[in-house]
Amino acid sequence: MIRLPRRLALHLGLVTTICVSVATALLSGGAQARGNADNGKELATKKYACASCHGANFATPIDPSYPKLAGQHQDYLRAALLAYQKGDHPTFGRNNAVMGSQAKPLSAQEIDDISAYLASLPPSLVLKR
Ligand code: HEC
Repeated sequence: MIRLPRRLALHLGLVTTICVSVATALLSGGAQARGNADNGKELATKKYACASCHGANFATPIDPSYPKLAGQHQDYLRAALLAYQKGDHPTFGRNNAVMGSQAKPLSAQEIDDISAYLASLPPSLVLKR
């Protein structure tokens, strides 16, 4: 066995530990979604009336001008809901009378949870090639 000087051995050990921690953080970071989908389901279907317009499965809205939400990217849903809250902010706002009033009462945590739930649902939109 090769005997390394004690200081070099300590140094290598530290470098390895840091590399493993960074790699673990990077790998888990992508998969780690914010928001609790189970709580989001309660919010979107019971506490708030989201399903009454967007459809029970969030893929069959009551009118073609109402968007399908099932399976949409979580980040997009979150950004959209935050934008409705900001209203007529020139850069970040979405000014919509219907969704503005729906989004206003939501807390940041509720937006995360609802977005996680909606993103977890099977989408009805398909890509035809
Ligand atoms: C009264 C009917 C109605 C209700 C209730 C409602 N929505 Fe909407 N929602 C709409 C309409 C209409 C739009 C499209 C608005 C626009 O043109 O920006 C929309 C848009 C959205 C969008 C943007 C989708 C996209 O593709 O950009 C999200 C996200 C959304 N609603 C989530 C919710 C959530 C979450 C709730 C419950 C808290 C909810 N909605 C309740 C009618 C409704």
